[in-house]
Amino acid sequence: MTRRKLIAGNWKMNGLKEDGLRLAREVAHRAVAASRAAGAGLHCDVLVCPPATLLFPLAEELTGSPVLLGAQDCHAKPKGAHTGDISALMLRDAGCRFVIVGHSERRADHGETDAMVRAKAEAARAAGLVPIICVGETEAERDAGKTLEVVGRQIAGSVPDGLAPESLVIAYEPVWAIGTGRTPTPDDVADVHAYIRKRLAERVAAAEGVRILYGGSMKPGNAKELLAVENVDGGLIGGASLVATDFWAIVEAAQ
Ligand code: PGA
Repeated sequence: MTRRKLIAGNWKMNGLKEDGLRLAREVAHRAVAASRAAGAGLHCDVLVCPPATLLFPLAEELTGSPVLLGAQDCHAKPKGAHTGDISALMLRDAGCRFVIVGHSERRADHGETDAMVRAKAEAARAAGLVPIICVGETEAERDAGKTLEVVGRQIAGSVPDGLAPESLVIAYEPVWAIGTGRTPTPDDVADVHAYIRKRLAERVAAAEGVRILYGGSMKPGNAKELLAVENVDGGLIGGASLVATDFWAIVEAAQ
């Protein structure tokens, strides 16, 4: 089955207003030009996930372009006494279509468990957002030969039941590959992605339709190879998403 690829930029905690707007504008210009040239729209979905402070201005900046807007995290509750948090409904209100949940930096920095990630993913769905649920092993877990065990446990614990395939995206991000310039081999990526799809089939009807992204040091130089791997349906890109030319080179590698 063919799944439309998704190239998602995770800006993390980067970008003041002027820089963020400029970056979004540069990406939007390229997207508009490419979809005009193609005649039939872009060849893949393109998403940017800026810090929360930039969501409203970026929603405006991206209007009229095919670039989609997403957030990097949400709270599990729709509203209430949770100082400093942002609900999925608020993200939807700001123009988001997607939200990343369970990124390894949040699991590490904020002690997020699989159960918390699942609750956030459920909140995202309830608000009409597509959760991008992140999973991935640490270097120690990989060295101990536990990659599939860890990823399987995260999928079992973090993915809500009963989601439609188009309402869910998984991102496989080996923790040791994030921001390090190191990546697994294409064979290793293929093994983990095939395993994720198998485990998803136990949880989700039509798991064949769920997009599974690879993330961790995806760059213009390795994107084509990684995006050609079976069951790799796009990328979640950190560092390279902060430079419009690099991000766009990865979008083009998804042809
Ligand atoms: P990176 O980050 O591309 O900078 O390795 C990816 C991510 O953490 O989503």
